[in-house]
Amino acid sequence: MKRYHPFFVGLHWLIAVMILVALILGGPSLAEIPNDSPDKMFGLTGHMIWGLTIGVLMTLRLAMRIFAKAPPHADAGNSALNSGAKLAHLGIYALVFSMVVSGIALAYSAGLFSIIFGGSGAALPPTFSVFPARVVHGIIGTVLLALIGLHVAGWAYHQFYVRDRLISRMWFGKRS
Ligand code: HEM
Ligand code: HEM
Repeated sequence: MKRYHPFFVGLHWLIAVMILVALILGGPSLAEIPNDSPDKMFGLTGHMIWGLTIGVLMTLRLAMRIFAKAPPHADAGNSALNSGAKLAHLGIYALVFSMVVSGIALAYSAGLFSIIFGGSGAALPPTFSVFPARVVHGIIGTVLLALIGLHVAGWAYHQFYVRDRLISRMWFGKRS
């Protein structure tokens, strides 16, 4: 088997775009809006729906990774690099889920579910930085971005040094 299942491939690229948008654009620009600005509720609504959707898609993807057939692990020609790639992939799954869980924990501790989705009419807290989950959410986001950078470097290593067209495993086409 040469490729991942096309549905899994589609999920990889959809989730990749959604995570990069949240990490680089959505999250940081949301954090810059003061909590007493009228734009904040709109930004929070979008970010929370976006983040929760990533959680649902990632769960679907993990289930597929566990239950559907996948191609054998790629060979980078070095056992340390092969183990590193496995560890990095596991790390990405773990950090994405931690990002979703810390986001939910933050929303729960700041009462955002009732303010944003329940229409409680209560005011937002003056700042989120007093909540430990906010600090954790920010730190995990930075580590996840660094790990994705490493993941893309791994792809570039395969593409330009090993020259094994690894990317075709994560693209559509004949699987056998
Ligand atoms: C944007 C540039 C990206 C490129 C060029 C890229 C490329 C690839 C390639 C070629 C593979 C297949 C590796 C193999 O078969 O061993 C792969 C797998 C993977 N990618 Fe990406 N990727 C990118 C972004 C992302 C992002 C943003 C995420 C975060 C969710 C991600 C998560 C993963 C995971 C977890 C796997 C392992 C698949 C598995 O076996 O479960 N990738 N990626
Ligand atoms: C993988 C999914 C997610 C990603 C990549 C993500 C990304 C981010 C980033 C990068 C920030 C800004 C961090 C900083 O500047 O220190 C942020 C802030 C935030 N996120 Fe997420 N997030 C995700 C999921 C969620 C979820 C599921 C929720 C809630 C249900 C959530 C709620 C928040 C809140 C309330 C803030 C604080 C905004 C502020 O400080 O004003 N996030 N997120």
